[in-house]
Amino acid sequence: MGEDRRQAARAPEVERVRIRLTINGEARGFEVAAGRRLLDLLRDDAGLIGTKEGCGAGECGACTVLLDGKPVTSCLVLAASCDGHAVTTVEGLGGSPGTMHPFQRALVTHGGVQCGFCTPGVAVTGAAILAGGHQPAEGARLLAGNLCRCTGYEKIFSALEAAAEEVRRDE
Ligand code: FES
Ligand code: FES
Repeated sequence: MGEDRRQAARAPEVERVRIRLTINGEARGFEVAAGRRLLDLLRDDAGLIGTKEGCGAGECGACTVLLDGKPVTSCLVLAASCDGHAVTTVEGLGGSPGTMHPFQRALVTHGGVQCGFCTPGVAVTGAAILAGGHQPAEGARLLAGNLCRCTGYEKIFSALEAAAEEVRRDE
């Protein structure tokens, strides 16, 4: 037996699971290693690279997506645990391809985007804040899990208020 085959024989088997989930409104199926992170499934398997990896430890919020409408840090969520659930990434926030959510538009017009690395996570969390009917004045508290090293946050909070106003007008 060659060295390669001996190593393959010794390598522990990685358990793989089949999952089905809805991503941005589309039903998708994957076969993933049991320990695969949702973040990696989204970026590498589903090709949705808008979701960013910052700390990889649940502390920066760059990887935030919606799981059944609730913000989660996808670096801490196992893909296998999402079987049967719905995930929304920054690409799907506007509801249809090429359409931005009001908060995404407001982030642009209020200068809430600088280097842009935190922006997908901020946009996802902000969309959940607005969908939950929270007051934009609560933005500082509710966005506390999304770290931004560029904007000083004020412009992000202004954008949230502007988006809340737009959503109210459209209701
Ligand atoms: S990359 Fe997930 S919280 Fe930082
Ligand atoms: S815009 Fe650069 S980290 Fe937020």
